[in-house]
Amino acid sequence: MHLPLGLLACFPVVVHSIIGIPTHPPLEPLPRRDAPVLGVGSRSHRRHQNAYPDEPDKYFHEADFDRHYDGRFANKRLSYDERRKHLTALMQTYLSTMNDIGAETWIMHGSLLGWWWNRKILPWDSDIDAMVSEKSIHHLADYYNMTVHHYQLPGLDEGRDYMLEVNPHYINDSMESANKIDARWIDTDTGLYIDITTLRRNRTAEARGVEGAMMVKDNHHYMYDDIFPLRESKFEGCPVNVPFAYSEVLIEEYREGALSQTVFAGHRFEPETQEWIPLRHAVQQNKLLPPGP
Ligand SMILES: *[C@@H]1O[C@H](CO)[C@@H](O)[C@H](O)[C@H]1NC(C)=O
Ligand SMILES: *[C@@H]1O[C@H](CO)[C@@H](O)[C@H](O)[C@H]1NC(C)=O
Ligand SMILES: *[C@@H]1O[C@H](CO)[C@@H](O)[C@H](O)[C@H]1NC(C)=O
Repeated sequence: MHLPLGLLACFPVVVHSIIGIPTHPPLEPLPRRDAPVLGVGSRSHRRHQNAYPDEPDKYFHEADFDRHYDGRFANKRLSYDERRKHLTALMQTYLSTMNDIGAETWIMHGSLLGWWWNRKILPWDSDIDAMVSEKSIHHLADYYNMTVHHYQLPGLDEGRDYMLEVNPHYINDSMESANKIDARWIDTDTGLYIDITTLRRNRTAEARGVEGAMMVKDNHHYMYDDIFPLRESKFEGCPVNVPFAYSEVLIEEYREGALSQTVFAGHRFEPETQEWIPLRHAVQQNKLLPPGP
């Protein structure tokens, strides 16, 4: 399949194919298609999933060695440089795929903060956060659950498979602490993933006459006008959407300091290069990776 020309310069993609599902969005609704996870990827024999005895209904299981990895596909944490490289590819392939599928998505939380500083992932961040609209999560659940998307990436001869997995609890609007993540975009080689949450109408608030109140199952709440209309920008070199009132959203979540403080998490922001550079003592003390679970 050919990507729109405008995207070729951005996405490090030569080939993109969806295994087991037509590459073009269906004109007629397709039957639901669930692929068995054991068929996916070369590392699926790895079993490092955490067990959650006190949360038996929790759908997504993170790795027992680090909750930022999917334990079905990973058995170790990556180094700082490796993680950054793979997170960048994860973000780029996600944006490319959602663009192809026509799903409405935008970046949030730490990813939005990274965008604010230099249009890149914060180098100390171990996760990427994206949000989708209610309409889009239904579309992803109905037609793209467990689809595997193959990308040819520079420096990786055999390419890489990414899997989209939708939590069956996405249909439940109530606050479920065990199932606040509605979907994941998973690198089936490293186990790194993007958390995808859904922005929902807060029907309780609407019933009380609050127009435009929105909620997310992870207990964040927004007004419709905070997010929409989305603004178009670039992130890691790719077209991306960000919330309309991005500064207000960031200040609400991280306070004003996060938009001005240039030393953070063992890094210093260099205005000349517009990059977060690891501080030498942090490198020496090996403090750049977050502690385990
Ligand atoms: C997605 O597929 C998996 C594996 O078959 C299944 O467990 C899960 O319930 C599906 N999610 C949805 C939203 O149907
Ligand atoms: C939705 O989630 C809530 C909170 O976990 C739970 O009590 C309720 O049974 C769920 N509803 C359905 C239909 O699964
Ligand atoms: C939804 O609105 C109600 C009523 O205003 C509020 O109590 C509740 O906290 C809101 N839920 C979220 C997740 O924001």
